[in-house]
Amino acid sequence: MPTLLIKNIGQLVQAETSPRPRVCGDDMSHLPIVHNAYLLCEGDTIKAFGDMSEAPATADTVIDAKGRFVMPSFCDSHTHIVYAGSREHEFIDKINGLSYEEIARRGGGILNSAKLLHETSEDELYRQALVRIREMIHFGTGACDIKSGYGLSTEDELKMLRVIRRLKETTPMTIRANFLGAHAVPAEYKGRQAEYVDLICEEMIPAVAEEKLADFIDVFCDTGFFTVEETARMLETGAKYGLRPKIHANELGVSGGVQVGVKYGALSVDHLERTTEVEIECLRHSDTIPTGLPGTSFFLNLPFTPVKEMIAAGLPVALASDYNPGSTPSGNMKFVLSLACIKMRLTPAQAINATTINTAAALGLSGSHGSIAVGKRANFYITKDIPSVDFIPYAYTTDIVDTVVLNGEIIERGDC
Ligand code: NIG
Ligand code: FE
Repeated sequence: MPTLLIKNIGQLVQAETSPRPRVCGDDMSHLPIVHNAYLLCEGDTIKAFGDMSEAPATADTVIDAKGRFVMPSFCDSHTHIVYAGSREHEFIDKINGLSYEEIARRGGGILNSAKLLHETSEDELYRQALVRIREMIHFGTGACDIKSGYGLSTEDELKMLRVIRRLKETTPMTIRANFLGAHAVPAEYKGRQAEYVDLICEEMIPAVAEEKLADFIDVFCDTGFFTVEETARMLETGAKYGLRPKIHANELGVSGGVQVGVKYGALSVDHLERTTEVEIECLRHSDTIPTGLPGTSFFLNLPFTPVKEMIAAGLPVALASDYNPGSTPSGNMKFVLSLACIKMRLTPAQAINATTINTAAALGLSGSHGSIAVGKRANFYITKDIPSVDFIPYAYTTDIVDTVVLNGEIIERGDC
């Protein structure tokens, strides 16, 4: 198998000799770093790393990092990047004073994207999503979750999930597919929400499972969208088909979504902008990972998820982008780091743990992704010349990625 050696690494960040499946509470303040290091990959796997004095003499390909830093690729555990077009007209509505919920109530928002997706071919959807994947890779992401949820009919949900499967097969990004039929009630089911939930349980979930198109099941369990009882029913049905929940909860109200997610063994509960001590206490007695989406709070002017309180309670906080056309048209995880530091008052070390090891865990990928460790996937990027790790979130619009390696292959080569 071909070998790739990165030598003269100034700082090899998040390098673990005993890989942790998740990082909780106070441990999130610690970031393991090897100074003056080498990193050796064989095929798509990390083979060894350590002090430069112990580096192998050569390899099939050698990159001299010249003192620059190597970071593990971000894992983005919450995205909606398969969608048609964009919704900047609603951006203007928001500037003029409408809220996200008001736009949704008028039949805009998710329903606008659903209408456009219905009119867009599978090939065209793939093409548009590919542009977004390439952009995410360029900004340092190596693994992500992608949700359906702009189909809202069996046929269109399957169309979205087939696009996600094609992205899995044709891009170097590690992708997990998440079935989100319960993203909104489609226009033709207005006033008949219970019947739409029947359709999801009786037709969509079996069809998705039949084609093995999804790894996870998601529900937008929130004020004005799906209730706790409906969520429970859909998660129960999903479980029968082997779909683990990763759900949207507490973005718009204290919805009970955290509790129902925990009850059904959700891998993560995401958003949590409206979280009280009750939800934090519930999470403390579970394996469910609380995931903040600071880009959404920034873009919609919502409160930021109280992640500092969650960390103080000993929880493993994850942070993802939520890249979607309505509430977060950005998949830049470095900006998520900056928002975490500036708006949520996390330290850079806490924010990096939240976007690497803990998001890998929220994707069910902690054995293979999220850190530099022997046996894990060779997914990392080499930075441009930067003075410190803290500079990464500090320089909040500077592109600091020089060279991207995914699955042991050089995907983008900068000047090192
Ligand atoms: O996570 N909150 C629900 N879903 C997305 C937004 C989807 C959209 O507006 O298109 C979110 O923010
Ligand atoms: Fe989302």
